[in-house]
Amino acid sequence: MEFSETLWTERKGCTPKPFWFEVVLVPRMKMAFIFLLTFLCFIAPVHQAPLQNATISDLAYKNMDFAMNLYRKISSYHDKNIFFSPLSISTSFAALLMASDGITRKEILEGLNLEQLETADQPELIPKLFQLLNENMAQNGSLRVDQNMALFIRQQFEVMKTFEDNMKTFFNADVKSVNFSDTSGSISYINEYIEQKTQNKITEMISSLDELTQLLLINTIFFQGAWINPFNSNLTREAPFHIDNYNIVQVPMMFKEDKFYTMEDIPLGARVLKLPYQEGVSMLILLPDKGRDYTVIDEEITAKRFLSWTKRLTKMKLEVNMPKFKMDRSYSLHNILPNMGMVSLFSNSANLTRLSQGKTPMVSEVLHKAVIEVDETGTTAAAATTTGIIPYSLPRMFTVNRPFFFFIYHEETLSLLFMGRVIDPTKN
Ligand SMILES: *[C@@H]1O[C@H](CO)[C@@H](O)[C@H](O)[C@H]1NC(C)=O
Ligand SMILES: *[C@@H]1O[C@H](CO)[C@@H](O)[C@H](O)[C@H]1NC(C)=O
Ligand SMILES: *[C@@H]1O[C@H](CO)[C@@H](O)[C@H](O)[C@H]1NC(C)=O
Ligand SMILES: *[C@@H]1O[C@H](CO)[C@@H](O)[C@H](O)[C@H]1NC(C)=O
Ligand SMILES: *[C@@H]1O[C@H](CO)[C@@H](O)[C@H](O)[C@H]1NC(C)=O
Repeated sequence: MEFSETLWTERKGCTPKPFWFEVVLVPRMKMAFIFLLTFLCFIAPVHQAPLQNATISDLAYKNMDFAMNLYRKISSYHDKNIFFSPLSISTSFAALLMASDGITRKEILEGLNLEQLETADQPELIPKLFQLLNENMAQNGSLRVDQNMALFIRQQFEVMKTFEDNMKTFFNADVKSVNFSDTSGSISYINEYIEQKTQNKITEMISSLDELTQLLLINTIFFQGAWINPFNSNLTREAPFHIDNYNIVQVPMMFKEDKFYTMEDIPLGARVLKLPYQEGVSMLILLPDKGRDYTVIDEEITAKRFLSWTKRLTKMKLEVNMPKFKMDRSYSLHNILPNMGMVSLFSNSANLTRLSQGKTPMVSEVLHKAVIEVDETGTTAAAATTTGIIPYSLPRMFTVNRPFFFFIYHEETLSLLFMGRVIDPTKN
């Protein structure tokens, strides 16, 4: 089973239709993510005992399950750092779901773990739930996640009105005709679109494009988070980080003493720490106990387990040591998703008949790139953090000086926005 980790710019230009997905952290923002999803060509459709009255909580949970499955697949291929946006991947494939039928649709539903949300009497339930989920997260402007999606399609294909309308209704997405034969013209057209949609955060999204491209779906998401309680950069020091028994690297270690939500998963052999961002989003750090092999924990991470951590957090005084890190990850998802059952999407038998009648395209490539930067910054340290500290209690240490996992999630809906594993914080 091959898995390649490549930059989208390195992709081979043989067959058309890449689908890629990009997360870029914009330097200088406290914490920001942007990602773009693109599909060229395409797919998808369906079922199993349906959930009655499915809600956005059901969807968020299903998405999380998918995220953990995807994570385990990726982690089984290598021992490197990992970072991706499961919500974005799910959302993009939910859009593809509306284009697909037959076996392709069934495989996507199963791959995304959404077959229980598929009901005959509510054919639009899934896109509707995605729409509600995104609206909920953006409620009150509390979470600044800008998501945009657009579909660029080869001029020859006639897009079905229903599909185009649904893209607009549920994903606020545009469908644009492009003359992909004019490669340079298409590249600048698409790049300008992305530049505009990301408010100039991404200026050169695409540098090459196959002239046989049929369909390109681009999804961008941007999240900017700031710690509620920033770290004091004056206290950041170089300190050792133990990659394994034999390899130690020096990293800038941030320090903060405060009350934090934390818990210990004793059976798992790991501790959990919550670092809240503003806007209702938090980062959950999962730190394996000293000597505990992280690859064992890789296998044990599930949605159920994640939820049990969030429920069992208690507040206590801690001295936290946490490395600053930056990561830039790229994945060829088309090499992974077929192993999760999404096979026909990437084959000649892709059934995209709800997108366009006649000969239907397929997805030949799925690339995902993710970048994250974690540092001290936040806005003002205005929060009253010192109240209620029990005098004389000795703070316990939470020292992130060995491989760890992290999850960035929206608290109210328990939606997993980003997920990652840090083996070596010095490796981008
Ligand atoms: C939810 O399920 C109950 C019982 O299964 C049913 O009576 C009700 O109409 C459902 N509500 C919606 C909004 O579908
Ligand atoms: C797509 O799936 C539908 C429903 O199963 C089927 O009727 C149709 O023939 C399929 N089309 C292609 C091109 O596979
Ligand atoms: C959004 O506003 C509603 C109603 O004002 C409130 O109940 C809810 O808690 C708010 N959500 C957030 C995340 O602030
Ligand atoms: C598409 O672009 C090619 C290459 O620039 C050009 O020859 C062709 O006329 C264009 N087709 C349309 C319909 O504009
Ligand atoms: C960091 O150190 C500088 C110079 O000593 C000082 O002016 C600043 O207030 C310190 N920052 C914090 C957050 O303590």
